[in-house]
Amino acid sequence: MIKHKVRVKVPASTANLGPGFDALGMALNLHAWIDMEIAEETSFHWVGEQLKGIPVDKSNLIYQVAQMVFDYAGVSHPELRITMYSEIPLTRGLGSSASAIIGALAGANALIGGKLSQDELFQIATKLEKHPDNVGASLFGGIVVAFWDGSRAEYIRLEPDVHLEVLVAIPSFQLSTEKARNVLPQQITLQDAVYNLSHSSLLVAALSTGNLGMIKHAMKDRLHQQYRAALIPGMLEILERATDHGALGAALSGAGPTMLALFDSRNENKAELENFLKQTFMKESIEIELLWLKPSLEGVSVTNLTESSPELQDLFKGEVKA
Ligand code: HSE
Repeated sequence: MIKHKVRVKVPASTANLGPGFDALGMALNLHAWIDMEIAEETSFHWVGEQLKGIPVDKSNLIYQVAQMVFDYAGVSHPELRITMYSEIPLTRGLGSSASAIIGALAGANALIGGKLSQDELFQIATKLEKHPDNVGASLFGGIVVAFWDGSRAEYIRLEPDVHLEVLVAIPSFQLSTEKARNVLPQQITLQDAVYNLSHSSLLVAALSTGNLGMIKHAMKDRLHQQYRAALIPGMLEILERATDHGALGAALSGAGPTMLALFDSRNENKAELENFLKQTFMKESIEIELLWLKPSLEGVSVTNLTESSPELQDLFKGEVKA
Protein backbone atom coordinates (compact mmCIF):
# COMPACT_ATOMS: atom_id res chain seq x y z
CA MET A 1 0.00 0.00 0.00
CA ILE A 2 1.32 3.42 -0.86
CA LYS A 3 1.28 6.00 1.90
CA HIS A 4 1.22 9.50 0.57
CA LYS A 5 2.72 11.67 3.27
CA VAL A 6 5.12 10.72 6.02
CA ARG A 7 7.09 12.52 8.73
CA VAL A 8 10.55 11.25 9.63
CA LYS A 9 12.33 12.14 12.86
CA VAL A 10 16.02 11.30 12.83
CA PRO A 11 18.66 11.78 15.53
CA ALA A 12 22.07 13.40 15.18
CA SER A 13 25.10 11.27 15.90
CA THR A 14 28.68 11.39 17.01
CA ALA A 15 31.20 9.09 15.34
CA ASN A 16 34.45 7.45 16.50
CA LEU A 17 34.14 8.21 20.27
CA GLY A 18 37.92 8.63 20.12
CA PRO A 19 39.60 5.35 19.15
CA GLY A 20 36.72 3.75 17.20
CA PHE A 21 37.54 5.51 13.95
CA ASP A 22 34.86 4.66 11.34
CA ALA A 23 33.58 1.94 13.69
CA LEU A 24 31.71 3.47 16.66
CA GLY A 25 28.76 5.82 16.61
CA MET A 26 26.27 7.11 19.16
CA ALA A 27 22.91 8.70 18.44
CA LEU A 28 22.23 12.02 20.20
CA ASN A 29 18.97 13.68 21.20
CA LEU A 30 19.23 16.47 18.66
CA HIS A 31 16.98 15.91 15.67
CA ALA A 32 16.04 16.62 12.09
CA TRP A 33 12.49 16.23 10.78
CA ILE A 34 11.65 15.53 7.15
CA ASP A 35 8.14 15.47 5.69
CA MET A 36 8.00 13.63 2.40
CA GLU A 37 5.08 13.41 0.06
CA ILE A 38 4.50 12.07 -3.45
CA ALA A 39 3.50 15.18 -5.40
CA GLU A 40 2.67 16.50 -8.87
CA GLU A 41 5.75 18.67 -8.90
CA THR A 42 8.98 18.57 -6.88
CA SER A 43 9.41 21.29 -4.27
CA PHE A 44 11.55 21.91 -1.20
CA HIS A 45 10.55 23.80 1.93
CA TRP A 46 13.14 24.56 4.59
CA VAL A 47 11.95 25.59 8.02
CA GLY A 48 14.25 27.78 10.15
CA GLU A 49 17.64 29.33 9.35
CA GLN A 50 19.72 26.16 9.77
CA LEU A 51 19.11 24.82 6.24
CA LYS A 52 19.48 28.06 4.33
CA GLY A 53 21.60 27.50 1.22
CA ILE A 54 20.86 23.76 0.87
CA PRO A 55 20.02 22.98 -2.80
CA VAL A 56 16.36 23.19 -3.76
CA ASP A 57 16.52 21.30 -7.05
CA LYS A 58 16.74 17.64 -7.94
CA SER A 59 20.45 17.60 -7.04
CA ASN A 60 19.32 17.76 -3.39
CA LEU A 61 20.73 14.87 -1.32
CA ILE A 62 17.39 13.94 0.25
CA TYR A 63 15.70 13.90 -3.15
CA GLN A 64 18.51 11.84 -4.68
CA VAL A 65 18.53 9.29 -1.86
CA ALA A 66 14.75 8.93 -2.03
CA GLN A 67 15.03 8.20 -5.77
CA MET A 68 17.62 5.50 -4.99
CA VAL A 69 15.10 3.79 -2.72
CA PHE A 70 12.41 3.93 -5.43
CA ASP A 71 14.85 2.55 -8.04
CA TYR A 72 15.95 -0.20 -5.69
CA ALA A 73 12.32 -1.16 -5.08
CA GLY A 74 11.50 -0.94 -8.81
CA VAL A 75 8.95 1.87 -8.51
CA SER A 76 8.87 5.37 -9.95
CA HIS A 77 7.97 8.53 -8.05
CA PRO A 78 9.97 11.32 -9.69
CA GLU A 79 8.07 14.19 -8.03
CA LEU A 80 8.29 14.76 -4.29
CA ARG A 81 7.39 17.53 -1.90
CA ILE A 82 10.09 17.66 0.77
CA THR A 83 9.91 19.78 3.91
CA MET A 84 12.66 19.79 6.51
CA TYR A 85 13.52 21.30 9.85
CA SER A 86 16.78 20.51 11.60
CA GLU A 87 18.35 21.22 14.95
CA ILE A 88 21.57 19.55 13.82
CA PRO A 89 24.29 22.04 12.90
CA LEU A 90 25.78 21.44 9.45
CA THR A 91 29.38 20.33 8.84
CA ARG A 92 30.29 20.32 12.52
CA GLY A 93 30.83 16.60 13.19
CA LEU A 94 27.34 15.81 14.47
CA GLY A 95 26.25 13.63 11.56
CA SER A 96 24.05 16.11 9.69
CA SER A 97 24.64 14.45 6.31
CA ALA A 98 24.11 10.97 7.77
CA SER A 99 20.84 12.13 9.32
CA ALA A 100 19.71 13.51 5.94
CA ILE A 101 20.57 10.20 4.25
CA ILE A 102 18.84 8.09 6.89
CA GLY A 103 15.84 10.43 6.95
CA ALA A 104 15.51 10.24 3.17
CA LEU A 105 15.89 6.44 3.12
CA ALA A 106 13.34 5.89 5.89
CA GLY A 107 10.89 8.43 4.46
CA ALA A 108 11.01 7.12 0.89
CA ASN A 109 10.80 3.53 2.10
CA ALA A 110 7.71 4.34 4.20
CA LEU A 111 6.08 5.99 1.18
CA ILE A 112 6.30 2.70 -0.70
CA GLY A 113 5.01 0.60 2.17
CA GLY A 114 8.37 -0.39 3.69
CA LYS A 115 9.55 -2.62 0.82
CA LEU A 116 13.18 -2.37 1.99
CA SER A 117 14.38 -3.97 5.23
CA GLN A 118 16.33 -2.07 7.91
CA ASP A 119 19.38 -4.04 6.82
CA GLU A 120 18.96 -2.92 3.21
CA LEU A 121 18.65 0.70 4.36
CA PHE A 122 21.82 0.29 6.44
CA GLN A 123 23.74 -1.17 3.49
CA ILE A 124 22.66 1.64 1.14
CA ALA A 125 23.42 4.34 3.72
CA THR A 126 26.86 2.91 4.49
CA LYS A 127 27.75 2.73 0.79
CA LEU A 128 26.77 6.38 0.42
CA GLU A 129 28.68 7.59 3.50
CA LYS A 130 31.57 5.12 3.06
CA HIS A 131 31.60 4.46 6.81
CA PRO A 132 28.84 2.99 8.96
CA ASP A 133 29.40 4.93 12.21
CA ASN A 134 27.09 7.95 11.82
CA VAL A 135 24.46 6.30 9.64
CA GLY A 136 24.26 3.24 11.92
CA ALA A 137 23.65 5.42 14.96
CA SER A 138 21.01 7.56 13.22
CA LEU A 139 19.25 4.46 11.90
CA PHE A 140 19.30 2.24 14.99
CA GLY A 141 19.80 4.71 17.88
CA GLY A 142 21.93 3.98 20.95
CA ILE A 143 25.57 3.07 20.43
CA VAL A 144 26.48 1.23 17.26
CA VAL A 145 29.62 -0.85 16.77
CA ALA A 146 30.10 -1.58 13.08
CA PHE A 147 32.40 -2.31 10.21
CA TRP A 148 32.15 -1.92 6.47
CA ASP A 149 34.35 -4.06 4.26
CA GLY A 150 33.53 -2.24 1.05
CA SER A 151 30.63 -4.50 0.18
CA ARG A 152 28.74 -5.25 3.41
CA ALA A 153 28.34 -3.55 6.76
CA GLU A 154 27.65 -5.47 9.97
CA TYR A 155 26.75 -3.96 13.35
CA ILE A 156 25.74 -4.58 16.94
CA ARG A 157 23.71 -1.98 18.81
CA LEU A 158 24.47 -1.32 22.47
CA GLU A 159 22.15 0.31 24.95
CA PRO A 160 23.90 3.38 26.40
CA ASP A 161 24.29 3.50 30.17
CA VAL A 162 21.41 5.46 31.76
CA HIS A 163 23.89 7.79 33.49
CA LEU A 164 25.64 8.81 30.30
CA GLU A 165 25.37 12.47 29.33
CA VAL A 166 27.20 14.34 26.62
CA LEU A 167 28.53 17.88 26.54
CA VAL A 168 29.33 19.13 23.06
CA ALA A 169 31.28 22.30 22.26
CA ILE A 170 30.32 23.31 18.75
CA PRO A 171 32.72 25.83 17.17
CA SER A 172 31.23 28.50 14.95
CA PHE A 173 33.39 27.44 11.99
CA GLN A 174 32.61 24.57 9.64
CA LEU A 175 34.96 21.72 8.75
CA SER A 176 34.19 19.31 5.95
CA THR A 177 34.71 15.60 6.52
CA GLU A 178 36.69 15.52 3.28
CA LYS A 179 39.17 18.11 4.55
CA ALA A 180 39.48 16.35 7.91
CA ARG A 181 40.10 13.00 6.18
CA ASN A 182 42.64 14.44 3.76
CA VAL A 183 45.05 15.22 6.62
CA LEU A 184 45.17 11.56 7.73
CA PRO A 185 48.15 9.37 6.85
CA GLN A 186 47.58 6.38 4.57
CA GLN A 187 49.85 4.18 6.67
CA ILE A 188 50.32 3.85 10.43
CA THR A 189 52.70 1.82 12.57
CA LEU A 190 51.78 -1.56 14.00
CA GLN A 191 52.21 0.02 17.44
CA ASP A 192 49.56 2.65 16.73
CA ALA A 193 47.23 0.05 15.23
CA VAL A 194 47.53 -2.06 18.39
CA TYR A 195 47.04 1.05 20.51
CA ASN A 196 43.76 1.83 18.77
CA LEU A 197 42.33 -1.63 18.59
CA SER A 198 43.02 -2.23 22.28
CA HIS A 199 41.56 1.13 23.33
CA SER A 200 38.54 0.81 21.09
CA SER A 201 37.87 -2.74 22.31
CA LEU A 202 38.18 -1.62 25.92
CA LEU A 203 35.84 1.31 25.26
CA VAL A 204 33.18 -0.99 23.82
CA ALA A 205 33.57 -3.29 26.82
CA ALA A 206 33.32 -0.32 29.22
CA LEU A 207 30.23 1.04 27.48
CA SER A 208 28.50 -2.30 27.30
CA THR A 209 29.15 -3.23 30.93
CA GLY A 210 28.48 0.22 32.42
CA ASN A 211 32.07 0.50 33.62
CA LEU A 212 32.10 4.27 33.18
CA GLY A 213 35.33 4.71 35.18
CA MET A 214 37.26 2.86 32.48
CA ILE A 215 36.26 5.37 29.78
CA LYS A 216 39.07 7.78 30.67
CA HIS A 217 41.65 5.09 29.91
CA ALA A 218 39.85 3.72 26.88
CA MET A 219 38.82 6.89 25.05
CA LYS A 220 42.25 7.52 23.59
CA ASP A 221 43.30 7.43 20.02
CA ARG A 222 46.40 7.51 17.82
CA LEU A 223 44.73 7.00 14.48
CA HIS A 224 43.16 10.31 13.59
CA GLN A 225 42.83 12.95 16.32
CA GLN A 226 46.45 14.12 16.50
CA TYR A 227 46.57 14.55 12.71
CA ARG A 228 43.41 16.65 12.82
CA ALA A 229 44.60 18.79 15.73
CA ALA A 230 45.90 21.62 13.54
CA LEU A 231 42.39 22.06 12.15
CA ILE A 232 40.84 22.46 15.61
CA PRO A 233 42.92 24.75 17.85
CA GLY A 234 42.39 23.82 21.51
CA MET A 235 41.57 20.21 20.75
CA LEU A 236 44.71 18.64 22.20
CA GLU A 237 44.35 20.49 25.48
CA ILE A 238 40.73 19.34 25.77
CA LEU A 239 41.67 15.73 25.02
CA GLU A 240 44.41 15.85 27.60
CA ARG A 241 42.70 17.70 30.42
CA ALA A 242 38.90 17.26 30.17
CA THR A 243 39.00 14.36 32.64
CA ASP A 244 40.66 16.68 35.22
CA HIS A 245 37.49 18.78 34.96
CA GLY A 246 34.92 16.05 35.50
CA ALA A 247 34.59 14.43 32.06
CA LEU A 248 34.52 10.65 31.81
CA GLY A 249 36.47 11.09 28.60
CA ALA A 250 36.70 13.42 25.62
CA ALA A 251 37.00 13.09 21.87
CA LEU A 252 36.67 14.91 18.62
CA SER A 253 33.08 14.37 17.48
CA GLY A 254 33.32 12.58 14.13
CA ALA A 255 35.56 14.54 11.81
CA GLY A 256 35.08 17.68 13.94
CA PRO A 257 35.27 20.50 14.66
CA THR A 258 32.84 19.76 17.54
CA MET A 259 34.45 18.46 20.72
CA LEU A 260 32.56 15.96 22.82
CA ALA A 261 32.89 15.09 26.48
CA LEU A 262 31.13 12.14 28.12
CA PHE A 263 29.79 12.85 31.58
CA ASP A 264 28.21 10.90 34.43
CA SER A 265 24.84 12.47 35.31
CA ARG A 266 25.48 11.65 38.99
CA ASN A 267 28.32 14.20 38.97
CA GLU A 268 26.80 17.52 39.99
CA ASN A 269 29.63 19.78 38.86
CA LYS A 270 28.65 20.48 35.28
CA ALA A 271 29.83 24.09 35.46
CA GLU A 272 33.49 23.14 35.86
CA LEU A 273 33.53 21.16 32.61
CA GLU A 274 31.56 23.87 30.81
CA ASN A 275 34.03 26.54 31.94
CA PHE A 276 37.03 24.45 30.95
CA LEU A 277 35.72 23.96 27.41
CA LYS A 278 34.68 27.60 27.10
CA GLN A 279 38.02 28.92 28.32
CA THR A 280 40.10 26.56 26.22
CA PHE A 281 38.37 27.67 23.04
CA MET A 282 38.34 31.30 24.15
CA LYS A 283 42.16 31.24 24.43
CA GLU A 284 42.17 30.28 20.74
CA SER A 285 39.62 33.03 19.91
CA ILE A 286 37.11 30.41 18.81
CA GLU A 287 33.44 31.01 19.49
CA ILE A 288 31.50 27.96 20.59
CA GLU A 289 28.03 26.88 21.49
CA LEU A 290 27.80 24.45 24.41
CA LEU A 291 24.99 21.91 24.44
CA TRP A 292 24.16 19.25 27.01
CA LEU A 293 22.80 16.21 25.21
CA LYS A 294 21.85 12.65 25.99
CA PRO A 295 22.34 9.53 23.92
CA SER A 296 19.21 8.97 21.83
CA LEU A 297 17.95 5.46 22.48
CA GLU A 298 15.69 5.66 19.49
CA GLY A 299 16.91 5.72 15.92
CA VAL A 300 14.95 7.04 12.97
CA SER A 301 11.16 6.91 13.30
CA VAL A 302 8.40 7.50 10.77
CA THR A 303 4.77 8.54 11.24
CA ASN A 304 2.03 8.79 8.66
CA LEU A 305 0.52 12.22 8.25
CA THR A 306 -3.08 13.02 7.50
CA GLU A 307 -4.81 16.14 6.17
CA SER A 308 -5.20 17.44 9.70
CA SER A 309 -1.55 16.93 10.80
CA PRO A 310 0.18 20.26 11.51
CA GLU A 311 2.90 21.26 9.03
CA LEU A 312 6.53 21.43 10.17
CA GLN A 313 6.31 25.18 9.52
CA ASP A 314 3.61 25.37 12.19
CA LEU A 315 5.45 23.13 14.64
CA PHE A 316 8.74 25.00 14.33
CA LYS A 317 9.83 28.45 13.25
CA GLY A 318 8.33 29.19 9.88
CA GLU A 319 9.66 28.69 6.39
CA VAL A 320 12.77 30.34 4.96
CA LYS A 321 13.77 30.74 1.33
CA ALA A 322 16.88 28.73 0.45
N1 HSE B 1 34.52 8.38 11.05
C1 HSE B 1 34.42 9.53 10.20
C2 HSE B 1 35.67 10.38 10.33
C3 HSE B 1 33.21 10.30 10.60
O1 HSE B 1 36.14 10.57 11.45
O2 HSE B 1 36.18 10.86 9.32
C4 HSE B 1 32.96 11.47 9.74
O3 HSE B 1 31.62 11.80 9.74
